[in-house]
Amino acid sequence: MKKNTIILLLLTVFSTAAWSQGGMMGRSTQQLYPQSYSQEESDKLDELIRISRGGQLYDNWWKTTIDTEKPQKDHPLWKEQSTNNRIGYDTYRCKECHGWDYRGKDGAYGKGSHYTGFKGIYETAKKMSIKELENVNKNVTPKNHDFTKYIGNKEITDLALFMKKGLIDTSKFVNNEGLPIGGNPMRGSYIFNRNCTHMCHGSAGIGINFGDAEKPEFVGTIAYKNPWEFIHKVRNGQPGTRMPSAIINDWSEKDILDLLSFARTLPKDISGIGWWGRFRGGMGRYGMMHGDYRPGSGRGFGPSLE
Ligand code: HEC
Repeated sequence: MKKNTIILLLLTVFSTAAWSQGGMMGRSTQQLYPQSYSQEESDKLDELIRISRGGQLYDNWWKTTIDTEKPQKDHPLWKEQSTNNRIGYDTYRCKECHGWDYRGKDGAYGKGSHYTGFKGIYETAKKMSIKELENVNKNVTPKNHDFTKYIGNKEITDLALFMKKGLIDTSKFVNNEGLPIGGNPMRGSYIFNRNCTHMCHGSAGIGINFGDAEKPEFVGTIAYKNPWEFIHKVRNGQPGTRMPSAIINDWSEKDILDLLSFARTLPKDISGIGWWGRFRGGMGRYGMMHGDYRPGSGRGFGPSLE
């Protein structure tokens, strides 16, 4: 072969390789922003969105919706107990009676100021059909459990979907004392920094205060004091805000456990955080939580966790 031919051949090989690199990059960009979903993928995503919305309704249905009325009086079933002193709308939140761990009196709400003695839904929801779970909130059975005056059929279906497909066995994550079972905080810190800090919670988790100036509550406070609530909110998102949902983003149980084990190490109150920490941790705090004005996105008022 002549020298020239060899050079030409080499040039062709290199330029083809370079071109195909470019082609690859073109394709991967398309994967990041898919032009179209298959019907199956789109149905799956739609269902995950509805499950996580059901979880937010379970947490706080009034904040998750935009056209509902907030009940002023106590829930009709409330008078069947006398241990929990909350009044008004709080008595209408599913979580207040059935718990963040879905186990009612047999779970974390089995003691303390939230104790009602009402049963959990974790075991029964496994056995009930979606239709039966819808009927619970439509005054079929049990009596006085009718939510149709307050929320629509779509909400009742989303709640049923959440109860059927979105409940999680929290005893896999935390023991009865609320201590995480395992978990890799190093990996958790990576997940936290990638997903939670920017524009929202800040690197120290103090970017958003769910409490007030005197008694602040941060990511670390919730993870430490109420890991069941932490898990529920991470998975479903915070009602009425742009907080993403681990259910929709298809996070694994390990992701959530690692995140929890790290989040417990974050500051629980303002003490001990110097000015630099406050600045770093609070960076971007004005980025969200002051209203989410997208249609149908709910009442994004203020940071209060309730
Ligand atoms: C005021 C307290 C209270 C609130 C609020 C409440 N529930 Fe209940 N729920 C009960 C009680 C009490 C029962 C059991 C009644 C019985 O079996 O006699 C029950 C039963 C259920 C059951 C059936 C469980 C079974 O074992 O048959 C499901 C499912 C359920 N609730 C889901 C929900 C959902 C979803 C919400 C929110 C939309 C909600 N509950 C709000 C008190 C409450």
